[in-house]
Amino acid sequence: MPRLNDRWALVTGAGRGFGRSIAVGLAREGCNVAVHYNTSALGAEAVMEEISAEGREAFAVQADVTRWEEIRRLADEVFAKVPRLDILVNNVGDVAPEQMSWRDVTEDLIDRVLAVDVKGTMLMTHEVGSRMLEQGGGTIVNVCSNVVVTGSPRAPQYAASKYGVLGLTKSYAGAFAPRVRVNALGPGFIETESTVNREDWRSGRREDVLAKTPLGRIPGPDELVGVVVFLASDESSHMTGNFVLCDGGFSMVGA
Ligand SMILES: NC(=O)c1ccc[n+]([C@@H]2O[C@H](COP(=O)([O-])OP(=O)(O)OC[C@H]3O[C@@H](n4cnc5c(N)ncnc54)[C@H](OP(=O)(O)O)[C@@H]3O)[C@@H](O)[C@H]2O)c1
Repeated sequence: MPRLNDRWALVTGAGRGFGRSIAVGLAREGCNVAVHYNTSALGAEAVMEEISAEGREAFAVQADVTRWEEIRRLADEVFAKVPRLDILVNNVGDVAPEQMSWRDVTEDLIDRVLAVDVKGTMLMTHEVGSRMLEQGGGTIVNVCSNVVVTGSPRAPQYAASKYGVLGLTKSYAGAFAPRVRVNALGPGFIETESTVNREDWRSGRREDVLAKTPLGRIPGPDELVGVVVFLASDESSHMTGNFVLCDGGFSMVGA
């Protein structure tokens, strides 16, 4: 029996990468999906086809999540189209993939990463969560990272931004309780297209991460979808403001 039968989910950044796997994975659990994208319009179309092939409904919505008025418009558009929005997955994030060292940081990179990860996730949670409260309930899953445990010597602003995501997860979990639950998951490295194309990934970082990962592999995005489904479903009904780490043991002390 699919766990999310006939529910509606909004997945941000669903035109590629982890978001794409999450959107299709939720559809496999019975969900209809609003597929958000910013620039990946073709990817969003492909995802909608995959969702239709699962026998579920889908439509696409475009927005730049660094702009509050675009998020308001996105939220209005989605709530006008669905009978009720049960699930929001805030997957959009910016890992500053072009940055190889803390020495390469620029003011633009700091502003961009904080605007996408912190401001974007906060305003999506704010606008969609307040509409969920009005409808009587819902659940929000924020994609964080294991950098909240390990830090990121490569891109400190990325680690700071994911700490920000954790902070706003806990804050809105308290503000929206008990009707809307807000939780976060913290993946370690996932081999999405943007990870495998990173310069450091192709020149030794992959082997280094693999050697430090007790489970001995680096997952593709599909392998982590189950944690999102769990946090989005009633199986996690006693969880809010909580954080689930899923990094193959990478951040275990002594690993
Ligand atoms: N990959 C990893 O190893 C890893 C590990 C831990 C956590 N994470 C987190 O997992 C999430 C997804 O990672 P990923 O590897 O799939 O990332 P990705 O391939 O780099 O994709 C980034 C996504 O964010 C969207 N996006 C970026 N800026 C945006 C903006 N201003 N407005 C709206 N959307 C915007 C992109 O949309 P468009 O393409 O439509 O522009 C895209 O869907 C992120 O939150 C990341 O921090 C990833």
